[in-house]
Amino acid sequence: MTQNLSSGGNALQRCIVRACSATYRLNERLYTCRRCGGLLEVESFFSGVDSAEWRRLWSARRASLETKDRSGVWRYRELLPFPNHVPIVSLAEGNTPLYDAPRAAGYCGLSGLRLKHQGCNPTGSFKDTGMTTAVTQAVLLGARTVVCASTGNTSASLAAYAARAELACAILVPEGQVSSAKLAQSLDYGARVLEIEGNFDTAMRAVRELSEDESIYLVNSINPFRIEGQKTVAAELMEQMDWQVPDHLVVPGGNLGNSSAFGKGFSELRTLRLIKRLPRLHIIQAEGAAPLAHYFDRNHPEQNDEDDLVPIENPKTLATAIKIGAPVSWQKAWAAVRRTNGQVLTVTESEIADAKAIIGRDGIGCEPASATTVAGIRKLVAQGVIAGEESVVAVLTGHILKDPDYVTKYHLGQLTLDREGEAPRPIEGKFTNRPTRVQADVASILRALS
Ligand SMILES: Cc1ncc(COP(=O)(O)O)c(C=O)c1O
Ligand SMILES: [Zn+2]
Repeated sequence: MTQNLSSGGNALQRCIVRACSATYRLNERLYTCRRCGGLLEVESFFSGVDSAEWRRLWSARRASLETKDRSGVWRYRELLPFPNHVPIVSLAEGNTPLYDAPRAAGYCGLSGLRLKHQGCNPTGSFKDTGMTTAVTQAVLLGARTVVCASTGNTSASLAAYAARAELACAILVPEGQVSSAKLAQSLDYGARVLEIEGNFDTAMRAVRELSEDESIYLVNSINPFRIEGQKTVAAELMEQMDWQVPDHLVVPGGNLGNSSAFGKGFSELRTLRLIKRLPRLHIIQAEGAAPLAHYFDRNHPEQNDEDDLVPIENPKTLATAIKIGAPVSWQKAWAAVRRTNGQVLTVTESEIADAKAIIGRDGIGCEPASATTVAGIRKLVAQGVIAGEESVVAVLTGHILKDPDYVTKYHLGQLTLDREGEAPRPIEGKFTNRPTRVQADVASILRALS
């Protein structure tokens, strides 16, 4: 039933619904439990773990020239549910920087803040760390075609990894709602781009039906092999912090795969005694696309009266990457929030836009969805949930060039909020930086600079 791993242990797929807990082999092509429809996750039974030896091994691999060691995901392959000899589909993902961000820290009311920049992945977003494992699994299963629904980044990433694996790739995106930079990537990597009427949630429903066809493999984050790759970011982050666990880890929330992956990654590191405690995991959503934040407000972790998540029919935010009303992985993310005593909160469009600009002032930059983290941290500090001296890491999920239109509109004062039945409302940026038109002579230039 189980499969031998690089760690020497075994692994299987298990339904996350406690009362069911059905198990399946790793090579069963499933996305949800056949018995109850619950989400699946990979459960690994690690054996013979010597945590000091694993740390030493992972660190030594940084100097290696082997493809598997150059990847910031496969370098931690002892954590992954793949045997050692598997041919991997990799673009040298991971290995992303952990930056100090003093201006953003000051803006939040913190003495220090670190930003783990997952936008520095090969296709410019954190999706690559999960796509390398999901597409490797697709090849192992003999899939011919890989598909996903996407707000833009998943599709760009899948298109690239499918091209590397020489697999056919189809992506479903909501028409007119994906940034042109992300769409351009998918086109260039040769994917079949299907623009559908409706929003991300409509596209997600369609690909789930499509994936009932045996030859088609779905690689949205409902696929547990995506989460496996993404969870290794916890190990990379801990290595960068010399295994000192931050007090708080803050991530944006859309479909909630990323927060689920951090939850799983940190829990496994603790089980393996690589760390002693868990960071508090906080998830930040845009105010118009915040089903988990509403759920959190209704079911505060200290209470036990859990009800079902209520999807948002028509989610709205200019941070298009997280414009999602019915997040597929919400139960896993919720479990991680509860386990770590985290919070889920919303931020406004202005708060996101200003946070994005302040991150830029640290010379870093990110896409709007990523900036929810800094906006959220500022609120959590103001509420006293995070103390000024605590150690905080925010995860930036996408590169600034993923959505350049948003950036220039912000700085030109042209960013507007469109609400149904209301006139478009301009967003007044606190940190706008307009270009100045100037004659091409020295005197005019010097005047403009003074
Ligand atoms: C840049 C960016 N940030 C955040 C998210 C949200 O991640 P998740 O859907 O895993 O919650 C996405 C998802 O598309 C994204 O592209
Ligand atoms: Zn089940």
